[in-house]
Amino acid sequence: MIFDRVKPLDAILAAASKKSLKRTMGGFQLMLFGIGCIIGTGIFVLTAAGAQKAGPGLMLAFAMAGLICVVAALCYAEIASTIPVSGSAYTYTYATMGEFLAWTVGWALVLEYAIAASAVSVGWSGYFVGSILNETFDIFLPPSLSGGPLALGGVEGGFINLPAMVIALLVTWLLMIGTSESAKVNAVLVAIKVSALTIFIALTLPQVDPEKFNPFLPAGIFGGWGSGLGAVGAAATIFFAYVGFDAVSTAAEETKNPQKNVPIGLVGSLLFCTVFYIAVAAGAIGTIGGQPILGPDGIPFSAGSEELARQCAMPQYAAALVCSDEALAHVLRQIGWSGVGNVLGYAAFLALPSVILVLLFAQTRIFFVMSRDGLLPEVLSRVHPKWHTPHVVTVITGAVVALAAAFFPVGQLADIANAGTLYAFALVAIAVMVLRKQRPDVTRPFKVRGLWVVAPAAIVGCIFLFLNLPSEAMIVLPAWTVIGTGIYFVYGRARSHLGKGKIEVIDDIEGSETLIPIDPPKI
Ligand code: ALA
Repeated sequence: MIFDRVKPLDAILAAASKKSLKRTMGGFQLMLFGIGCIIGTGIFVLTAAGAQKAGPGLMLAFAMAGLICVVAALCYAEIASTIPVSGSAYTYTYATMGEFLAWTVGWALVLEYAIAASAVSVGWSGYFVGSILNETFDIFLPPSLSGGPLALGGVEGGFINLPAMVIALLVTWLLMIGTSESAKVNAVLVAIKVSALTIFIALTLPQVDPEKFNPFLPAGIFGGWGSGLGAVGAAATIFFAYVGFDAVSTAAEETKNPQKNVPIGLVGSLLFCTVFYIAVAAGAIGTIGGQPILGPDGIPFSAGSEELARQCAMPQYAAALVCSDEALAHVLRQIGWSGVGNVLGYAAFLALPSVILVLLFAQTRIFFVMSRDGLLPEVLSRVHPKWHTPHVVTVITGAVVALAAAFFPVGQLADIANAGTLYAFALVAIAVMVLRKQRPDVTRPFKVRGLWVVAPAAIVGCIFLFLNLPSEAMIVLPAWTVIGTGIYFVYGRARSHLGKGKIEVIDDIEGSETLIPIDPPKI
């Protein structure tokens, strides 16, 4: 049987109880942490791709994606407070539904974390090139160095997005030498991001022209399965703007009075971002307009497509929101606030690398845990003697992230990241229900009220968004899972530590590990 290897929950809980992190965080601190992980390329950059898919309906898209994230976040909060160890969705699945499904989740998390880190790197590059190089220093990079190839949806004459590649490598290096973000730095960066968005809202909302919201849904609510268009297509893309809240759930074990504060922190940060995002979208579209560029058949060109890139190179679309690589700074420049637009660009320039850091960090830790479980080569969990970081896995991950950032456009990377994330979220929602049935006895510091409505709603929401991704992004998940399944059966299954009869529960890079011999499962 392939679903037989379930990691014993009691062993995991025993290891977790040894660690006993102090409960120091309150609801507000948790919210700050959440907002730090959440706000990034999604709102600063993907607003343009979202408008190309839905026009003013982008506001509705932000509301839909935000709501689905709230129900998924509640599920995360319960399981993270019950099983407070590293490995996130991978570990939760391992303890409830077994090794094979856990492997597929860990494998899908590569899309969530690594590809998302690439997407944020490309988003950062747009602001670096626009606000720093062009606007501030009058330096213009040749197109061959500032965007990927046109055939991949890059820019005319594009070859490589050098700034995106460099920032990804720089963050990798920081991570390798042991940089982590302190709560103080996070608070400063959150203040910078939130101030930039607040100024944006304050300057744009008074200038909104209601006519600009007409037609509200130029591509309808449903743009058609696989098209990635319409309000739900935009919701599937800008779901990316909320990714990262799962990092907050992992802080559940450090939260005081978790039953009250975890939902405040998680749901609070998501609702805060949802309101902000809708206001930002209203300000952007209501001032300079955000109607999609339509093809000859009256249907919007796909965001990130070669056709759209060609249209955007034409002078009549130079000012279009949907063509901008630095959407929010661009809007401010168009309405006469060029200086403030550049300042917003500096805010994105400063704050986005920390989002890359959080995502890359999460990726390396997932690989680390999978390698310590024997499912990936042991070399990946080697810890550097001086830096005390898993340097091998960090370098390999960083190189892949940098390569993807160098050649692909932000919208496509975000869609692929979303596909993996939605799979992981859906499995977490299933895992919470399985755990409630299998182990009603374990302590749940945070318990979702109405789980039997909330968890199915999260699953349906995730499937719904997944089915509204563009088909190219949708297909990546099954293809990636097939490759992963092949690797599992050729490599991991025979080498799995659990399969060999030992359970290791690793909680941090150099923390103690619990090694418990068990009877080998029958294969
Ligand atoms: N939510 C994060 C962002 O938008 C990943 O950049």
